[in-house]
Amino acid sequence: QVADSLYIVNDYAKKYYEDQLFNTDIGKGVGLSYFKNRGFREATIRKFGLGFAPAKKDALTAKAISEGHKIDTLRDAGLTSKFDQDFFRNRVMFSIHNVSGKVIGFGGRILQKDIKAPKYINTPETEIYNKSKVLYGIYFAKQSIRKEDECILVEGYTDVISLHQAGIENVVASSGTSLTKEQIRLIKRYTPNVKIIYDGDIAGVKAALRGLDLLLEQDLNVKVVTLPEGEDPDSYLQSVGASAFKKYIDEEAKDFILFKTNLLLKEIGNDPVKKTHVIKDIVNSIGLIPDPIKRSIYIKECARLVNVEEQLLVNESNRILAKQV
Ligand code: UTP
Ligand code: MN
Ligand code: MN
Ligand code: MN
Ligand code: MN
Repeated sequence: QVADSLYIVNDYAKKYYEDQLFNTDIGKGVGLSYFKNRGFREATIRKFGLGFAPAKKDALTAKAISEGHKIDTLRDAGLTSKFDQDFFRNRVMFSIHNVSGKVIGFGGRILQKDIKAPKYINTPETEIYNKSKVLYGIYFAKQSIRKEDECILVEGYTDVISLHQAGIENVVASSGTSLTKEQIRLIKRYTPNVKIIYDGDIAGVKAALRGLDLLLEQDLNVKVVTLPEGEDPDSYLQSVGASAFKKYIDEEAKDFILFKTNLLLKEIGNDPVKKTHVIKDIVNSIGLIPDPIKRSIYIKECARLVNVEEQLLVNESNRILAKQV
């Protein structure tokens, strides 16, 4: 089967990148020190299968071929270009595991800022890697998600790894893409409760707002934690330490309705037309919740927050629901 050979060659590549990281001068000097400078301990680096891809054009490809792997398989796995060059070069590497722990792809991070090259490149779509279906970290998180009955959703690879290292293991990343139905279905196998902790920037807030409706539609309970401007879960945790970070996310977690209402109301000032618009937007989100009891609780909460008659919002929500059928 084609898929089997892709798993095999990805596993080979993961071990190759790990070996480069731990056992070569350049890997240790550039890659391992990079991870250590970011506060990742060796056990963490090993657990997540981090590695280093050397700069040489065909370092992995040539070695793999010499050890019996087929060029077509390397290409099909996204590891080798059609010109027989390595896809990942001179980058620190993040293995991406599926739910059962098999390596299905990689993310590679550039070592220093470069305006021309993207910060991360990721395995292109392959037979076993479809970025809209993957949740980074799910294999290492699933047990803890079940146990905590909550899934923390972050944006990036390093957010997952940092939180995990700090003992917060119920965490996965959407890896910078907008959240998809498939990713939400994967979360729902383990819990109906999601806590979004996206980056403290405009992009992060927008992504949280976008993800919200999809999560509500799928009947998940959503809380949102907003980080201080310019911080992401990794940077904030590294700056304040594990216990302050845990305290912060416990105290700052807001139910989605509070998050969205505060956010939108802040933007509109006293303009009644804009306020009407915001209220409709929020009621629209509430209207996506399949459970009528939950819906009515949120309507009540929303009416209180925006200071309008509850019955008005009930009417509006019924109007929206009627339109949906
Ligand atoms: P961020 O830009 O927030 O990066 O993108 P990060 O995770 O904080 O990484 P560091 O701390 O700078 O190393 C969030 C996620 O979006 C994806 C990656 O999965 C990244 O972890 N991304 C970002 C890309 O795929 N390509 C990019 O060029 C940038
Ligand atoms: Mn925990
Ligand atoms: Mn970001
Ligand atoms: Mn970061
Ligand atoms: Mn980030």
